[in-house]
Amino acid sequence: MAQQTNPMSKDLKSLFSTLAEIPEDIRIQSPLHQKQILVDGALLEWTGDFHEVYSPILISNEETGATEQLLIGSYPIATTKETQEALDAAVRAYDGGRGAWPAMHINERIQHLTRFVTEMKAQRQHIVKLIVWEISKTVADAEKEFDRTIDYINETVRSAKQLSNQTNAFQVTQGFIGQTKRVPHGVVLCMGPFNYPLNETFTTLIPALIMGNTILFKPPKHGTLLFEPLLEAFSSCFPKGVVNTVYGRGRDIVPMLMESGKIDVLALIGSSRVADALKKMHPKSNRLKSVLGLDAKNAAIILPDADLTHTVREVIAGALSFNGQRCTALKVLFVHHEIVAHFNQMLVEALKHIGIGLPWQKGIMITPLAEPEKPAYLKSCIDDALAKGAEVFNAADGGGTIYKSFVHPTVLYPVNSAMKIYHEEQFGPVIPIVPFTALSEPVEYIMNSPYGQQVSIFSQDTEAVSLLIDTLANQIGRINLNSQCQRSPDTFPFNGRKDSADGTLSVDEALIAFSVDSVVVTKQTPENEQLIKSILETGGSRRLTNEVSF
Ligand code: G3H
Repeated sequence: MAQQTNPMSKDLKSLFSTLAEIPEDIRIQSPLHQKQILVDGALLEWTGDFHEVYSPILISNEETGATEQLLIGSYPIATTKETQEALDAAVRAYDGGRGAWPAMHINERIQHLTRFVTEMKAQRQHIVKLIVWEISKTVADAEKEFDRTIDYINETVRSAKQLSNQTNAFQVTQGFIGQTKRVPHGVVLCMGPFNYPLNETFTTLIPALIMGNTILFKPPKHGTLLFEPLLEAFSSCFPKGVVNTVYGRGRDIVPMLMESGKIDVLALIGSSRVADALKKMHPKSNRLKSVLGLDAKNAAIILPDADLTHTVREVIAGALSFNGQRCTALKVLFVHHEIVAHFNQMLVEALKHIGIGLPWQKGIMITPLAEPEKPAYLKSCIDDALAKGAEVFNAADGGGTIYKSFVHPTVLYPVNSAMKIYHEEQFGPVIPIVPFTALSEPVEYIMNSPYGQQVSIFSQDTEAVSLLIDTLANQIGRINLNSQCQRSPDTFPFNGRKDSADGTLSVDEALIAFSVDSVVVTKQTPENEQLIKSILETGGSRRLTNEVSF
């Protein structure tokens, strides 16, 4: 039977189960072979090539004990032809802003979205299971991701109504009378990341949709099948062409979308390298708007007076939740030299008790990694640090060991600027610890970093914390005091500086990111006042209206 906690290297292999050991309700009964793509409101049968999806969760062969890959499904590898059709459909549905969707009052769009949420909720169990098998997220976290996404949609609806009501008002100034409302940009290309495939895709797709844009949406490479249960709902709940899927290899199909010049907004949660390359492909750089959530290397700064019991708890959650595969994860720890020995000891002790195992087992934090190439990359980071003077501080408890998709949490100490783990975003369960003496050391690190998402400061020292806040506030998006870095609650702005983001994605601000001001204004004369009144009373215009959203 698989162990759940603190395995040594030899045990990582034994954490994988046989098929018979997997609880029936989470077991994949048969692979999901997706045979349709959604283009122009129709679910088109796909007869071309398919990409086979293998789970990062390996299966132990009952007889031989060898670990084997499990095929969990396949999805279409569409070509540039279908991608062009999807683009044409989105452009047609937008129709220069005259399409049914962009021209609709927001109240009506909300009705469509409400129907979609009802249908989405009915797919909860199916989608949660696919998240678990495709990216190896724990069942509890996959459920949380689903529920958080539903909450996000509901909050977005609430916020959109509020925005609509606020912008019903008229401004009377300097002899002018005018009304400013938010209107859509046009066609939005949405691409989410593998680590929050549902949630982060929908944190751009839903606000873009509700503001009247039409959508091309490409699921992440790992985390694609989980959208299949939603295709029917997308097709039936929205006018044709409003939501279109783009399947296939990103490098083959996304360039042609950008090069067409017909993408108005690039909404990408991914790497800054990809964002850079895609933006450069667009022929109209001023027309293209970007909403980007990109790389991060969030630091924790742990001062001598920090409450170490609390700090260790936050650091473990911050660095290792979902194996450290969060853009907001703590990816480097700066620990004051006076306490670093004690801190390391407490961290290593606490790590002995974290759950390592399979997503459906109780109390699990560390699961197999979703990206096939990631274990080898992490090994290269560990080897590089060891060659340059660091130690695996928890080696006695399994740190530094890897078996196929399982990577044991690994504490590296002392880390310095010569090592690649100091600079690169590991996106995995490796915790580099840098000892420091002067506050200027972590500050310089953040100043010189190409990233600027978040930081965590652990201390109760008023003077030191004030100084750090004031120094770092103009470098990064969010400063967390005595808590790990994180995105939630979704009502707080989620953004980043430098290469970490473009735009802000809170519930409220995402609506602004996916829309633009439209002003209708006139000179304040009796005739013009009468004209406006008459338009409002007759309801002749869907744009110049003060219809209330309840
Ligand atoms: O991967 C980045 C996610 O937005 C992080 O969200 O901090 O709530 O886990 P979270």
